[in-house]
Amino acid sequence: MSRLVIISNRLPVTINKKDGELFYYPSAGGLATGLSSMDKSIEQLWIGWPGGNIEDKKEKKEIKDQLANDGLVPVFLSEKDIELYYEGFSNKVVWPHFHYFTQFTNYNNHSYWSAYERVNNKFMEVLKEHLRDDDVVWVHDYQLMLLPALIRTFNPNTEIGFFLHIPFPSYEIFRTLPWREELLEGLLGADQIGFHTYDYMRHFLSAAYRIAGFEHNFGKINVGQRIVNVDVFPMGIDYEKYAFPERYLDGEHFENTISRLTSKGRKLILSIDRLDYTKGIPQRIKAFEKFIKKNPQYHGKVTLLLIVVPSRSKVDQYQELKNEVDTLVGKVDGQFRTFGWSPIQYFYRSFPFQELTAIYKAADIALITPLRDGMNLVAKEFVASKEVSKKGVLILSEMAGASNELTDALIVNPRDITDMEEALEKAMEMSLEEQAERLTKMQHRLKKYTVKHWAETFLTELSQMSVLKSSNEINELNEDSKFQLLSDYKNAKNRLILLDYDGTLVSFKPEPHLAKPDAEVLALLEGLRDSEANKLVIISGRDKDTLGDWLGHLDLEMSAEHGVWRFQKSNWELAHGITNSWKKDIRPVLEAMVERTPGSFIEEKDYSIAWHYRKIDKALGEKRIREFRDVLLYLTANLDLQVLEGNKVVEVKNSGVNKGNATLKWVNSSDWDFILAIGDDNTDEDIFKALPDFGYSIKVGRDKTAAKYSLFGVKKVRALLKELVEIKVT
Ligand code: UDP
Ligand code: G6P
Repeated sequence: MSRLVIISNRLPVTINKKDGELFYYPSAGGLATGLSSMDKSIEQLWIGWPGGNIEDKKEKKEIKDQLANDGLVPVFLSEKDIELYYEGFSNKVVWPHFHYFTQFTNYNNHSYWSAYERVNNKFMEVLKEHLRDDDVVWVHDYQLMLLPALIRTFNPNTEIGFFLHIPFPSYEIFRTLPWREELLEGLLGADQIGFHTYDYMRHFLSAAYRIAGFEHNFGKINVGQRIVNVDVFPMGIDYEKYAFPERYLDGEHFENTISRLTSKGRKLILSIDRLDYTKGIPQRIKAFEKFIKKNPQYHGKVTLLLIVVPSRSKVDQYQELKNEVDTLVGKVDGQFRTFGWSPIQYFYRSFPFQELTAIYKAADIALITPLRDGMNLVAKEFVASKEVSKKGVLILSEMAGASNELTDALIVNPRDITDMEEALEKAMEMSLEEQAERLTKMQHRLKKYTVKHWAETFLTELSQMSVLKSSNEINELNEDSKFQLLSDYKNAKNRLILLDYDGTLVSFKPEPHLAKPDAEVLALLEGLRDSEANKLVIISGRDKDTLGDWLGHLDLEMSAEHGVWRFQKSNWELAHGITNSWKKDIRPVLEAMVERTPGSFIEEKDYSIAWHYRKIDKALGEKRIREFRDVLLYLTANLDLQVLEGNKVVEVKNSGVNKGNATLKWVNSSDWDFILAIGDDNTDEDIFKALPDFGYSIKVGRDKTAAKYSLFGVKKVRALLKELVEIKVT
């Protein structure tokens, strides 16, 4: 089993320096608490920032040694790193932006961005000191989105996973970030990228396609020669730990905390979050205020236990939020409190596990209403804590990732104060049977999908990626096979060379008429033609006039419109049984598609019509093709037509016409001792299939193919042809 190297901005331990002494505390936040509960049975190393700004060399050494005992490796951040990378780019750009708080996003601070790049590199430097060849590296969260690509460059074979613990915003939001390409590129260095929910995953896939042009097939993105797997892995909790905390704790202290909280016989409404504007704390207090106002019968009988954990206190918005919460709490408490009752008990600090679980157990209702939240583990922990009692109600925001799983909670809109207030009333009145029923269903799920299960599924799927990598491996024309090809070519006396044009000899252009042959390609074709042993054929889907204009003077043979026309001895000849009277029926359908699909266009040839959608969204293009096929089925019931799908183009033509049939005519026309065919799209697959066994077939691109070999890009095709031209047959 490989070692697992976890990298996150924050280590599970935070160091605080007081009066020259170092203190170690557990870190706040779901990432640290969640990952700390992961199974420790596999060998692990965890690299991250231990908090604070430690400069003293001796202290650094002391911390390093201390943390090493627990398999932790510190990355020390300087004051500038903290200000520009952590508070700056991470928490004033990415955090607000990804949570849809674009009013807080700082779009114009380049020093934030350079610090983000620099510190991601700093993490890389620390990783380099520890990385072993067979390590599996798992990078976590939004602070380190550039790291996967940095690791990939350092060691292309490392298995790299990435998990985003916060939402991935919709394309419309993500696209407004000035650093959108760089962030995508960084992330796509991973073999696998995980998200908490399907929505985040779909937003990411859409951004990867629309911004970077990477298409996906069921979540698998082809990036260069690699496949990146994108999937949903909702993070769970250590269920047993929250269901039976007394097994892990000093029982007496635990029971005392519970009885202190419940001694007054009041209903306890619990609210726990880091102090963060994404958590909806002011709205929640307002909902509680409305509830108190509307329901005087509960005065003195209910308390809101408001636990707010200090977080990112140097960032302006967090300071402002602190003031807002303080003021609101004062207002509500001042308005309703009596000598014996204060409606809100407000704590601005964090609680250790021991007390936290006692609080969960004691609470009757959890009011968890973030405006946006990647997952929200507190909601899951609260539900687990009711394993034994089966008493308690969870009110949960529909904007928390957890709401996808905890569907038996009272789901509310966190911006709708009335909705939350009504949920509180409902929760207060809910029967014990209903509470038990709802809790049991949610607990059933949480027991099964624990944090251990989460990590295992992520890592298993990641390791399957490497199996897939090798089974999906494309047979690239490597040096050995190329050597064989060149030597067979050299020894042959009668050779057939079949070359597709677009995407093979010349790269795609936004419009077909722009893909004219350049001097290099013309010279290559002339070179091949000039060898007496060669029959050179261009076999293309293009119309005959264009091919004639561009290549007619070269005195080679050609096939146009996928085999409708054949060019030999400077003469175009039409294949048998071909008609074009059907075009008048099909043309209006295609014209209507163009009208409804800006950016697409029609290319009309003698015996076919093509609809190109290179410049439009792939999904829209595919939708139109589906619609088109339906219409065509109806229109062509009595016509002998077929629809060929090429690279961002769909073409209607007489059936039986394809490059395969065209190929056979040449293949059968002589006794060849060497055949080479090169092509890039679906329609070229017919050529590959029509070749005899000894023929060399080469696919340009990375898709699955019937060809024996693949080459990546027009440049490589040209380089191969150049080598053929340079062979002088003796
Ligand atoms: N937590 C804690 N002490 C506290 C409050 C919260 O240990 O006083 C833990 C809580 O158990 C949970 C985590 O902090 O595991 C918060 O994670 P969550 O996903 O709810 O929110 P995040 O802080 O990651 O946004
Ligand atoms: C969220 C983020 C974590 C982060 C945590 C606490 O859970 O997803 O990456 O560690 O908040 O925030 P902090 O800024 O204190 O690390």
